[in-house]
Amino acid sequence: MVKLKVVSGLLAVVVYMVLSELAFLDYIQKMFHSPKNYGVEISRQNYMYEHYVDTHLTKGQNKSQNKEVLPLCPNTSPLLRGPINLTFPSELTLANVQQKYPQVELGGRYRPLDCEARHHTAIIIPHRDREHHLKFLLYYLHPFLQRQQLDYSIYVIHQAGNYTFNKARLMNAGVREALQEKEWECLFFHDVDLIPTDDRNIYVCGSHPKHAATAINKFGFKLPYDTYFGGVTAFTPDQYRTINGFPNNYWGWGCEDDDIGLRVYLAKMRVLRPSLEVGRYDMIKHGHDKGNTVNRLRSKYLVNALENWKRDGLNEDMYEVISWERLPLYTNITVNVGTPAGLHPPP
Ligand SMILES: *[C@@H]1O[C@H](CO)[C@@H](O)[C@H](O)[C@H]1NC(C)=O
Ligand SMILES: *[C@@H]1O[C@H](CO)[C@@H](O)[C@H](O)[C@H]1NC(C)=O
Ligand SMILES: *[C@@H]1O[C@H](CO)[C@@H](O)[C@H](O)[C@H]1NC(C)=O
Ligand SMILES: *[C@@H]1O[C@H](CO)[C@@H](O)[C@H](O)[C@H]1NC(C)=O
Repeated sequence: MVKLKVVSGLLAVVVYMVLSELAFLDYIQKMFHSPKNYGVEISRQNYMYEHYVDTHLTKGQNKSQNKEVLPLCPNTSPLLRGPINLTFPSELTLANVQQKYPQVELGGRYRPLDCEARHHTAIIIPHRDREHHLKFLLYYLHPFLQRQQLDYSIYVIHQAGNYTFNKARLMNAGVREALQEKEWECLFFHDVDLIPTDDRNIYVCGSHPKHAATAINKFGFKLPYDTYFGGVTAFTPDQYRTINGFPNNYWGWGCEDDDIGLRVYLAKMRVLRPSLEVGRYDMIKHGHDKGNTVNRLRSKYLVNALENWKRDGLNEDMYEVISWERLPLYTNITVNVGTPAGLHPPP
């Protein structure tokens, strides 16, 4: 009798899992096939030529009466080099990287010295236990952004404690904290293990949210699936508010990227992408980390996203700042994002 109950219980669980997986696949298929689909467009051209019309600054505008007035930087930076090959010297230390880029100001801030930057971009990197990756990312990202003549700052949002990783909460926290420091025009959400290899992939925002990591080496330099929205994405603060920020309830490695892509679709925006030639990234190799387990409920969450996106997002206060440190190559904002039981769950 007891045995029968256990067996039928297990059966129900299996049936449920299969059904939710099928519902998820069916849903994705529909998005993929319907003519009014996700709105993903892969542009054949680079962003710098087609997507960005600068409406914020006019030539010769005075920043401050005391400062020398610099000419506006050119539309296309003359410093761009196109594709590069990466190397990962094992002896490289963070101190070496720091010595290499003395022009970066405290907190990982930089702006061109000889012209007034047209674009102001905050880079937000969710992080825990990936110092090794972070070092290489900083080594390549600083010169990459400098060749693009951007005014930028790099924020590392570090999750405190040992509880399961929650990338989306860290990104929400990063937005709020970065915008307190400056009214950034553009927010770039950047996985710590992805290094851009072509500086024509300009880190500026467009009239729609942007998916920059179109061609990752791990996926054979093409999209793993049509609606992929992971790795490196960008939103203006207004676009970010329109999708109600990111979902707070994805714990561990899962589908929060897909949920975010879904929000863009539900908010009736499109996705801009650089060409596969330009949107190239090398992923630093690693296994799945401890405390960042594969989220087994992910397809169920994703279907729920349809109902939850307006409720679950930036309108909830899901973090507290533990420390804020301006280091030579980045700002380290350490936050407590709690657990599903709250920010201060009973022990
Ligand atoms: C900019 O500054 C110069 C000199 O300080 C001044 O003559 C000019 O009127 C200012 N322009 C604007 C747009 O404020
Ligand atoms: C990168 O490596 C490839 C293959 O080894 C080579 O064909 C290419 O010229 C290299 N590119 C640069 C910029 O060094
Ligand atoms: C996290 O785990 C490490 C080692 O497993 C332990 O030393 C540390 O006290 C833990 N920290 C917290 C906040 O639980
Ligand atoms: C950020 O600061 C926290 C708290 O001081 C520290 O534990 C962590 O290692 C730092 N992370 C990075 C990437 O600097």
